Amino acid sequence: MKKATNIHPIFDQLLQRKDKEAFLQQHSIVLWMTGLSGSGKSTIAKGVEKKLHEKGVLTKVLDGDNIRSGINSNLGFSDEDRRENIRRIAEVAKLFLDAGIVTICSFVSPTIAIRQVAKDIIGEADFKEAFVNASLEACEARDVKGLYKKARAGAIKNFTGIDAPFEAPIQPALDIPTESQTVEASVDMVVDYVLSLVKDKA
Ligand code: ADX
Repeated sequence: MKKATNIHPIFDQLLQRKDKEAFLQQHSIVLWMTGLSGSGKSTIAKGVEKKLHEKGVLTKVLDGDNIRSGINSNLGFSDEDRRENIRRIAEVAKLFLDAGIVTICSFVSPTIAIRQVAKDIIGEADFKEAFVNASLEACEARDVKGLYKKARAGAIKNFTGIDAPFEAPIQPALDIPTESQTVEASVDMVVDYVLSLVKDKA
């Protein structure tokens, strides 16, 4: 890839993140949700965004299928492409973070190494990992998009959990058991966690 030369970044001359956070009366974080396809990431992201909005928190959801239909439409599902997918997303998430916005990322991001790419870009202090925890059996039984069926039939290659790896996080900030609790309970769990980080106690 061609590298840019003769660039003169002006980061230090722009208003700072703390100025944006003060304006919005919130702290910003990146909530990074990882989990198998069909584990409930997008559903939780939608619910969390709605509830936080009602509580006066400015949020932005970045979601796999949306991002892959736009900025990352040229990427597939090889390990290299997934890594580039996550690298770009993390750079975008960082822009929102720097604008003081609570940024909810919802991506399979299947391996520890791939999530480390995101963590390195975003910074450890602001990267809050949430494991949307459902077994392969449960995700496959739900098969909302019909993709597991296609993957089992060999019509989709490199499908996470079938013929591509998924590594669960070792010490996620949040572990959301979507198999054993309702969507509502999962959403509330995430909302409580995020509020504890982004809003000062009055
Ligand atoms: S990631 O692995 O690069 O993080 P991402 O979250 O962007 O994946 O996209 C995952 C979504 O793409 C899934 O929810 C599913 O709808 C779709 N998808 C299509 N092909 C695959 C595949 N081979 N593996 C996983 N997800 C796939």
